[in-house]
Amino acid sequence: MVSKRIVLFASGSGSNVENIAHYFKNKPNITIAMVLTNKKEAHVLDRCNRLNISAMYFNKAAFLKTDGVLRVLQGLEPDLIVLAGFLLKIPQNLLDHFPNKIINIHPALLPKYGGKGMYGHHVHEAVKAQGEKETGITIHYVNENYDEGAIIHQAKTEILESDGVATIAQKVHELEHIHFPKVIEEVLTNS
Ligand code: GAR
Repeated sequence: MVSKRIVLFASGSGSNVENIAHYFKNKPNITIAMVLTNKKEAHVLDRCNRLNISAMYFNKAAFLKTDGVLRVLQGLEPDLIVLAGFLLKIPQNLLDHFPNKIINIHPALLPKYGGKGMYGHHVHEAVKAQGEKETGITIHYVNENYDEGAIIHQAKTEILESDGVATIAQKVHELEHIHFPKVIEEVLTNS
């Protein structure tokens, strides 16, 4: 059986990376080839170390201006590139080389609360400030604009008036952990 290969990009804590790694641990048909990060101090690197997953740091300016990361990716031959809490815009050279092979998870119900600067707690703060009664997650293909590619999957969760930003964040993370690995598996199965 030929194993499909995913490469994960992450910039922060990496709870999604760890959750995805657990999900695919006993599924030999899908392998995490590498985790790439633009943050040297990101907790995701500790998680990868503990989980024995290859991980690599890259420099942001080089990522945006050179083909270094592209060449690494070409060597890895990913079937899917997964942004799991990755906060930089994907440069055109990667979009050109991996059409319809890059997906992202966003912690809100797009098209609401997307775009530049809308990530992590900023999203949940805006949702709370707006008095929304529900929020959720959006998994979508990546194109040249932040959070605008075709939507693959959304899931919702209720917001109670008593919910603070931390509770909203926790509810959204729970949804991410339930849905993201399954959606990755589906996308790979159908590709
Ligand atoms: C996740 O909630 C993800 O949706 C969000 O960053 C968090 C990373 O959590 N991504 C964005 O905001 C992208 N715009 P994690 O590091 O615990 O996986």
